[in-house]
Amino acid sequence: MSLYVILLSLHNIVRWLVLLFGVLALVRTLPGLGGRRAFGATERRVVVMFMSSVHLQLLLGLLLFAYVGMQNIPAFADAPRAGFRWEHVGLGVLIAVFATLANTLSKRAASDQGKFRAAAVWTGLALVLSLAAIPWWRPLLRLFTT
Ligand code: HEM
Repeated sequence: MSLYVILLSLHNIVRWLVLLFGVLALVRTLPGLGGRRAFGATERRVVVMFMSSVHLQLLLGLLLFAYVGMQNIPAFADAPRAGFRWEHVGLGVLIAVFATLANTLSKRAASDQGKFRAAAVWTGLALVLSLAAIPWWRPLLRLFTT
């Protein structure tokens, strides 16, 4: 099994962790926008889990990108449009920035309502961009096969 298939499969699987923790973070933070709840340890945990899964995905993506570059494997040769490769990389970096902002700005906010707002808005944006960045024509689950 090549390193390409290993990295590609891990990158494929971690995408589901990103989506799962993103949805969980939204489910925990959206109800707090009304202003009557306290931002507690469970909310912090899901926001951190979302950020961590995105950071891991970014790292795997960068390794994959470097590897396909070194091996002269054309990345996203099967993409429906030529620019998809750069959209994917650009959106991936933006998703990592937004998921980080969800954590840091919700920590910095003075009120509980401000924490919920920062977490929900930046997580929501990161999640929408994740859905746009994913090459949905690829296998939904790649278990170490080409
Ligand atoms: C959170 C953001 C990201 C998500 C959700 C995501 C998701 C995916 C998915 C589902 C695939 C298809 C895997 C497969 O074919 O089994 C893929 C492929 C790939 N991604 Fe990402 N990705 C993200 C960020 C990045 C970043 C930041 C980079 C590079 C810096 C990157 C580089 C790649 C490369 C090189 C491929 C393989 C292209 C090929 O095999 O032709 N990804 N990505």
